[in-house]
Amino acid sequence: MKSKASAPGKIILFGEHFVVYGVKAILCAIDKRITVTAENVQEEIISIKSNIGEHEFSLQEYGTVTDLRFKPLYYLAKKMIDKHKKRSGIKITVESDIPSGVGLGSSSACCVAAAAAISRLYEENSKEEILKMAIEAERTIFQNTSGADCTICAFGGMIIFDKKNGFSKIDYKPELHLVIANSNIKHSTEKIVSKVKKFSENNREEFLDMCKRESEIINQALTLLKNNDVRNLGKIMIENQEFLERLGISNEKIQNMIKMANNISLGAKITGAGGGGCIIMLTNECDSKKIIETMRDKNYDCFDARIDFQGLDTF
Ligand code: MEV
Repeated sequence: MKSKASAPGKIILFGEHFVVYGVKAILCAIDKRITVTAENVQEEIISIKSNIGEHEFSLQEYGTVTDLRFKPLYYLAKKMIDKHKKRSGIKITVESDIPSGVGLGSSSACCVAAAAAISRLYEENSKEEILKMAIEAERTIFQNTSGADCTICAFGGMIIFDKKNGFSKIDYKPELHLVIANSNIKHSTEKIVSKVKKFSENNREEFLDMCKRESEIINQALTLLKNNDVRNLGKIMIENQEFLERLGISNEKIQNMIKMANNISLGAKITGAGGGGCIIMLTNECDSKKIIETMRDKNYDCFDARIDFQGLDTF
């Protein structure tokens, strides 16, 4: 049997890092996808093929799989084989158009699509159950994930995420035109999250105050999104970026990109873990093309993003 699933990448509009500490975050799924194909094979192996490599594992290898690129996929496959007590294996193929390691949710989208494709070889699951499996798989490489990224990749559209109380869909459809610029500096989300943890421990009072102010920004953002007030949304993105700078997750290249972006768009900020990765710029539709050209003239890798309303898709 063969099963296929695809899930979108994501951006975080507001609230990355603070979301790990209980502040709400606003996320959007974007129109770049990862597709995972899973297939039963007779041999007792788990084979994984993707654009970042290819490997074949025996079923006895769990715990010794140290390559972070393969661990969540191996985990998901092994879990299903064990649960259904099968003496057979699974071949997994991953195809992606989401740039990896730059804050656009490639790893979460992969966990979501893989959880759906692999589990469907054996059983039917709801989106909620698939999300739970995907988060478990992601935790094999990033223990402290808030779960926000897998949630948006599973459900698509735009959500407000709260680590403690779950998420809700933002059902009004603001006319957001976003341009993404990629610094092409890859990061380890886990390392950057640990760096922010150190910051929070060394600057307790200040961090608590920042969490409070970030919560205010999120509430403001929800009202502005409802009113389609993109001009003021841009302004609070600039404010949010100041907090991210203070957390120490920016760098010189990102600062240069943000400076340029703020001159040509309504507002810009890092999206995702930072430490490199991508920035997002909010624009008016008519300006997007010009902004992309201007950024490309400076050799920045830049493209526009539309909201993906579909989320996880199985076929
Ligand atoms: C990474 O895309 C988002 C972070 O807030 C981590 C998380 O929420 O798990 C940095």
